[in-house]
Amino acid sequence: MAPHWSDFQYEIYLNGLRGDVPRLPTDLTRLEELTAQRLGPGPVGYVSGSAGNGSTAAANRAALERRRIVPRMLRDVHQRDLSVQVLGRTLPAPMALAPVGVLSIMHPDGEVAAARAAAAHGVPFTLSSASSTPMEEVAAAMGGSERWFQLYWPKDREVTASFLRRAKAAGFSVLCVTLDTPMLAWRPRDLDQAYLPFLHGVGTANYFTDPAFQAGLAKPVQEDLDGAVRHFLGMFSDPAKTWPDLEFLRASWDGPIVVKGILHPDDARLAADAGMDGVVVSNHGGRQVAGSIGAADALPGVVEAVGDRLTVLFDSGIRTGDDIVKALALGADAVLVGRPYVYGLGLDGQAGVEHVIRCLLAELDLTLALSGHATPGTVRADTLAEA
Ligand code: FNR
Repeated sequence: MAPHWSDFQYEIYLNGLRGDVPRLPTDLTRLEELTAQRLGPGPVGYVSGSAGNGSTAAANRAALERRRIVPRMLRDVHQRDLSVQVLGRTLPAPMALAPVGVLSIMHPDGEVAAARAAAAHGVPFTLSSASSTPMEEVAAAMGGSERWFQLYWPKDREVTASFLRRAKAAGFSVLCVTLDTPMLAWRPRDLDQAYLPFLHGVGTANYFTDPAFQAGLAKPVQEDLDGAVRHFLGMFSDPAKTWPDLEFLRASWDGPIVVKGILHPDDARLAADAGMDGVVVSNHGGRQVAGSIGAADALPGVVEAVGDRLTVLFDSGIRTGDDIVKALALGADAVLVGRPYVYGLGLDGQAGVEHVIRCLLAELDLTLALSGHATPGTVRADTLAEA
């Protein structure tokens, strides 16, 4: 019989016979507090913080909490297969790691450690434009494993085109264009500490190594860091962009494109009309618009609008395996996980990210099985009740 993700729990219990217990909690909701105890206030505030008073991050949790799984019995779940088809590829489970910038503030091995952890379990890794490591180095650490590239869409067309060429050459298969960050939101936990790593040239590696970016500098990066940072800040994003601008990306990327940050059904329709292959229903983990709709509350409307035309991915608030079941029941094809793996990275490097991946997928496997599902495909709207 093929191994199941749930086998991780037997591995843990068997290790216990030798007196070993897991280095990190298996209830992943405890990782945030542990991270706050062990890491510095700058990185902790940056990762855990949200926009405004945190109301959107709270709404993300509330939208998932309010929905409850209704388990079904006697459905033969002894053999299970969690694999799904997403954007023309087979994923071992309906989960990928979300793009998160500046991972070196959490651990010196940063993106490379997280990418290796994802590759070790066949889970796609989405590399942020704002990574602390150039995309080619991260790709080299992943071998042939599935990797996606997230674009913060620069103002400068040449830099945009250059990023896309480099990502394609480095084996990134899916382009994930983040639309919800045309500017940085009001983030009190960062503001109160005046903490923004980019100003120190951290999280700018893709830009500083880019020939099109370098062409716009008066002096090389090593000779004038401040000038390079200013050039980065001037082109990082472009609040003037509108839907027709997607044509340029569609023409420049030969592969699936998903747009991230979609919350309104009409925006999902516009994405479909623009030739996109998918959307990520997301409010950036509550980091952009305070007072925004909880992401899970936006999901059914988007699925109804475009579910038959587009792949619908989901993130913002996923903390446990049962959260993933709920997102599937609301119509998502797969989820992205953000902060939990970043806490795992901060607490225990690559091993910490692997721990988070294995806990989430073991819990997903068990929750599906115990609710009467041998595959994600049988999870539907009637899997949930609203409390
Ligand atoms: C992010 N996110 C993000 N998104 C993106 O498209 N590009 C990026 O560089 C980043 N950077 C980033 C940094 C940090 C510290 C966090 C926590 C998040 C958003 C991310 O992809 C995802 O949408 C959220 O993290 C999902 O919410 P949860 O899982 O953190 O609740």
